[in-house]
Amino acid sequence: MSVHFATTAIRGRFLDIQNIVTDPRKIQEQVRYIEDGLLITQNGKIQWFGTWEQGQSELNPRIEVQHYPEQLIVPGFIDTHIHFPQTEMVGAYGEQLLEWLNTYTFPTEIQFKDPDYSKKIAGFFVNELLKNGTTTALVFCTVHPESVDALFEAATAKNMRLIAGKVLMDRHAPEALTDTAETGYQESKNLIEKWHGKGRNLYAITPRFAPTSTPEQLEKAGQLKAEYPDVYVHTHLSENKNEIAWVKELFPKRQGYLDVYHHYGLTGAQSVFAHCVHLEDEEWQCMHDTDSAIAFCPTSNLFLGSGLFPLKRAWQAGVKVGLGTDIGAGTSFNQLQTLNEAYKVQQLQGEKLSAFESLYHATLGGAKALNLDDQLGNFEVGKEADFVVLDLNATALQQLRQSNAKNIEDTFFALMMLGDDRNIAATYVYGQAAYVKETF
Ligand code: GUN
Ligand code: ZN
Repeated sequence: MSVHFATTAIRGRFLDIQNIVTDPRKIQEQVRYIEDGLLITQNGKIQWFGTWEQGQSELNPRIEVQHYPEQLIVPGFIDTHIHFPQTEMVGAYGEQLLEWLNTYTFPTEIQFKDPDYSKKIAGFFVNELLKNGTTTALVFCTVHPESVDALFEAATAKNMRLIAGKVLMDRHAPEALTDTAETGYQESKNLIEKWHGKGRNLYAITPRFAPTSTPEQLEKAGQLKAEYPDVYVHTHLSENKNEIAWVKELFPKRQGYLDVYHHYGLTGAQSVFAHCVHLEDEEWQCMHDTDSAIAFCPTSNLFLGSGLFPLKRAWQAGVKVGLGTDIGAGTSFNQLQTLNEAYKVQQLQGEKLSAFESLYHATLGGAKALNLDDQLGNFEVGKEADFVVLDLNATALQQLRQSNAKNIEDTFFALMMLGDDRNIAATYVYGQAAYVKETF
């Protein structure tokens, strides 16, 4: 990047996960907690990280150190599935997936044909991500290329690493929200040329889900992925039982829901499938064999009554999992709240989700799911300097609970259970403060 980003030096308590794991029992060994640490960034990257004691000699005396003695600093949260045009319809009452789409979602998304409206909501959306400590997201736009331009422009203004794409949808939706196999292909191609790899922006080919694309459209999507192998594929999979039955009716020749995507060349190391609540055995195997990733969206799965995501099964199958808010079926932009619900989804299945595993999914594990773990997810020197300063005591109740915390694991767990956007003191993107809480 040609723009120069100033050097930043941050002193405080740092917590991150050092390496990717394939077994959740190994996460504890990868936890790095530095009570009095120093992080130096230069040109948006982490230049030095370690203890304050060791780091002082590294510091240029002219650089002012930003000191957060009471807070906890973690890598920026990564949201692996969210819809920016659904920001305004979060919390829509009463329906499950297919009725919810027809009743609330499609009428809302029609408005994004208007570039000014797209810009207005894109600006709000990006601010809301930062206010919640989310520094990277994989985002659905609408079928309109205008919505993609608006979002990438808003993300570029904040130097965020964002992945997004235009929805492909050529059937089973209102006319005003559909493209065709050919126009969807061409518009996506133009957007890839315009945005993919420009600054920190990355493009995702985004068929909404199998029921709203004809076989011809999925074929063209696969062709596009073959032409641009380093772009992403982002879609929904196996979220709701009626949806799955519908896919089986629409694609009788395919072995199952995932096989529809796999058949058209849409699985792979940069393919992210939201939900995967009801996968069958062969589908788990295919997810593993193709190195495809899942976005686990607990608040959405509970809100739409879709089901309980089997996280343990994903670990056993060796499938990458990131955390998704899935706004507007999900009910919060905040990854602490999302982890709170993720914990309860596991409890309902007799499983435990530890604080450190939670941190893993929200940071390094999310980066791995997006195939960006060489650039994001922890404080390794050379990675991009995206991080969050967490206030542990944003309310009287939190203060009381945290004063009784046994150790850093308990501290983070209590934060997950009680925390929300009030706990985000500051969000740093590419080494610079992109959000600072007003009352902080
Ligand atoms: N499946 C197809 N479209 C959508 C959507 O917008 N939200 C969710 N949660 N699932 C979907
Ligand atoms: Zn979704």
